[in-house]
Amino acid sequence: MAIEKTDKIWHNGKLINWDEATIHVMSHVIHYGSSVFEGIRCYALPSGPAIFRANEHIQRLVDSAKVYRIEVPFTREEIVKGMLETVGHNGAWPCYVRPIILRGYGEAGVNPFNSPTEVYIINYPWGKYLGGEVEGCDVYVSSWTRLAPNTLPAMAKAGANYMNSQLIKMEAIVNGYVEGIALDINGFVSEGSGENLFLVHRDKLITAPLGNSVLPGITRDSVLQIARDLNVSIVEQVIPREMLYLADEAFFTGTAAEVTPIRSVDKINVGKGVTGPITKAIQKEFYALVRGEKPDRHNWFTAVPVRSKQPVSV
Ligand SMILES: Cc1ncc(COP(=O)(O)O)c(C=O)c1O
Repeated sequence: MAIEKTDKIWHNGKLINWDEATIHVMSHVIHYGSSVFEGIRCYALPSGPAIFRANEHIQRLVDSAKVYRIEVPFTREEIVKGMLETVGHNGAWPCYVRPIILRGYGEAGVNPFNSPTEVYIINYPWGKYLGGEVEGCDVYVSSWTRLAPNTLPAMAKAGANYMNSQLIKMEAIVNGYVEGIALDINGFVSEGSGENLFLVHRDKLITAPLGNSVLPGITRDSVLQIARDLNVSIVEQVIPREMLYLADEAFFTGTAAEVTPIRSVDKINVGKGVTGPITKAIQKEFYALVRGEKPDRHNWFTAVPVRSKQPVSV
């Protein structure tokens, strides 16, 4: 997807021109992958633009920084405010919001402690729904294992983790699949390259616990809440690989994927190979909430103050 530029980028508390948001090639992050970031949707609700689960995303951002001993010179509230300022100024929505904290230009070498912390918030138009419109995607089990415990922390959303995601995604693409499912170091189901995974087996909604090297997805959390609202039984359990072939239903969740049904795994149909009733019910509720067709009963949205009710682009 080509990048569609907007007017300003938030850098350490100030809005700067998009073209001036550059970093030096000797920045620590370039060589050693030292960044933590978020991917967030700002939806176009009938009442105007609103960021989905802004506080939870920024909490995960500061949690990721804590794991990597990055001292962030802004509070969660200040970063949320920065997102509202950036989206409000650029006036482009629906959009994707990308806050990123990185180790900048300071010293050469692996030791990150003497490189400055830089915080950026970028937003750009992103109107497509990858999930809602598709009937189901065909996926495979990747030959790449997800991050093993005590190697790279899977609970932190760090730039370096996405080298593993890239291996999974590239293998999927060259083999003609949309996405891959990675197993964890012990051969149990973990997650996709950029999505959490849910299965339905005998009317129970199943997802892997955080101990199976999964990112604590904000959409995963939202879907668990929706399932509770719909009185669907939930089991967080270790998932053996063969459950992928025996499940009645399966779907991915994520900021990009939203709720995307899975039609087949390794060319074996999931259930009857069509979107099942529990997936459909969860999808329907999720999209009704994020399109503002139903009231925001869980306070998941933060409204963006804007000068005009009309977006400047998209
Ligand atoms: C590896 C990985 N797992 C899961 C997710 C889903 O997380 P979220 O729902 O917070 O977007 C993402 C996307 O951020 C991801 O990159």
